[in-house]
Amino acid sequence: MTAASIVLRLARPDDAEALAALSRDLIETGLPWRYRPERMARLIGSPEVSVLVAASARRIAGFAVMEFGDERAHLMLLAVRPALQRRGLGRRLVAWLLESAQVAGMASVHLELRAANEGARAFYATLDFVPTLQVPGYYDGREGALRMLRLLRVPHATGP
Ligand SMILES: CC(C)(COP(=O)(O)OP(=O)(O)OC[C@H]1O[C@@H](n2cnc3c(N)ncnc32)[C@H](O)[C@@H]1OP(=O)(O)O)[C@@H](O)C(=O)NCCC(=O)NCCS
Repeated sequence: MTAASIVLRLARPDDAEALAALSRDLIETGLPWRYRPERMARLIGSPEVSVLVAASARRIAGFAVMEFGDERAHLMLLAVRPALQRRGLGRRLVAWLLESAQVAGMASVHLELRAANEGARAFYATLDFVPTLQVPGYYDGREGALRMLRLLRVPHATGP
């Protein structure tokens, strides 16, 4: 599989198992496995969520999950198989979702990542995400998170 042969598509119900395994192995490493196949299937079927897959034929190279609120989108999960990292796939996945969020009228995109994940932090910085907050113990009381934010437009005022 080469990066050039990989296309982006929306996930199908029968991708749930493979995506859950990728989440377990690449994102939730060392933590309790929360994004199991049933949960992933619910996300794939949810009208408020986009589950995007980077794949060549049947082989999945990476995926990303974004939940859309009224004005805020949440980038919940993102991973690219190690053998295919640093070939622009992560950027393609997030760029697609950022464009969707913009078209959907979102004001901002939020995410959390493990505080020690310097690689992901550097990756998100290249896409203009900025760090906003450290959240100690966010992951099961064991590990802190860093929140990051990408503004897409000025949010609407919420009060008088
Ligand atoms: C974070 C992740 C999705 C990036 O995917 P990727 O396909 O390797 O990223 P890209 O190739 O699109 O990278 C684009 C740019 O981001 C930066 N970048 C990406 N990974 C980086 C790293 N580990 N360290 C420093 N900078 C990095 C680089 O500037 C890179 O451009 P370059 O390769 O030309 O230097 C991938 O490393 C991954 O799956 N990690 C494990 C899971 C994870 O941490 N997920 C995110 C938190 S939920």
